[in-house]
Amino acid sequence: MLKVNQLNAGYGKFQILYDISLKAERDAVTVIVGPNGSGKTTLLKSVAGLATVYSGEILLEDNCIRGHKPYEIASMGVAYLPQVGNVFQNLTVEENLRMAGYLLSDGEYKEGLSEAFRVFPQVKDWLHKPVWWLSGGERQVLAISMAIVRNTKLMLMDEPTAALAPKLAAQILDKIKQAGRELGITVLLVEQNALRALEISDYAYLLVAGRVAYNGDSRDMLNNPKLASMYLGVKYKATAE
Ligand SMILES: Nc1ncnc2c1ncn2[C@@H]1O[C@H](COP(=O)(O)OP(=O)(O)O)[C@@H](O)[C@H]1O
Ligand SMILES: [Mg+2]
Repeated sequence: MLKVNQLNAGYGKFQILYDISLKAERDAVTVIVGPNGSGKTTLLKSVAGLATVYSGEILLEDNCIRGHKPYEIASMGVAYLPQVGNVFQNLTVEENLRMAGYLLSDGEYKEGLSEAFRVFPQVKDWLHKPVWWLSGGERQVLAISMAIVRNTKLMLMDEPTAALAPKLAAQILDKIKQAGRELGITVLLVEQNALRALEISDYAYLLVAGRVAYNGDSRDMLNNPKLASMYLGVKYKATAE
């Protein structure tokens, strides 16, 4: 679905990412973890057309999307959900959903909406509420629903649970996984809670200082004591004392 080959990217002349190769498969959740400042957001932005790409390939279903404008990449089925500001605060929930589907025919919009309601039935009850009325978690649910409405193939999510209480964060991640599976959406997720992200994801990349330091099945990464203690905040009990 998404293939990134030997990507070098940054902002203007500030190079942040070095030789990144990454794959995100359809129907799977791929997660990017790593310390603050390691380039996770920049990697999502590079795919979305919002960073400077110096070299390398970015392929969506084998079509090159590198060098396209952000709105062109969006119209190819890529949804970029930044950490904040992914919904329109002063509009109602229904207006937000309509904005997401403004390029669709009535029929397509209704179909997208019913798919979103299937994953998130609660959205139906909020249609006439203004977005400022929603909690942080509900806004994330709306942002994901908007991506579903507009028939997203690849969802790039930057720390969707950053501002949420742990229990709610876990629920949202489960829903993201469910949406991916049920609707055939490829999910590429950056998560600050690496442990939780690894638990719900299929494949993981660890970024350190702009490079891929490790990649593999999420389970394997979780079970790798060295990685886990260095980067994931997992404390292992000392066995020899
Ligand atoms: N617009 C920008 N211009 C220049 N440097 C930036 C910009 N945005 C982020 N950076 C730098 O890029 C590096 C990686 O940032 P980022 O991709 O946000 O990391 P992460 O998401 O892993 O915390 C940081 O050193 C940060 O200061
Ligand atoms: Mg970030």
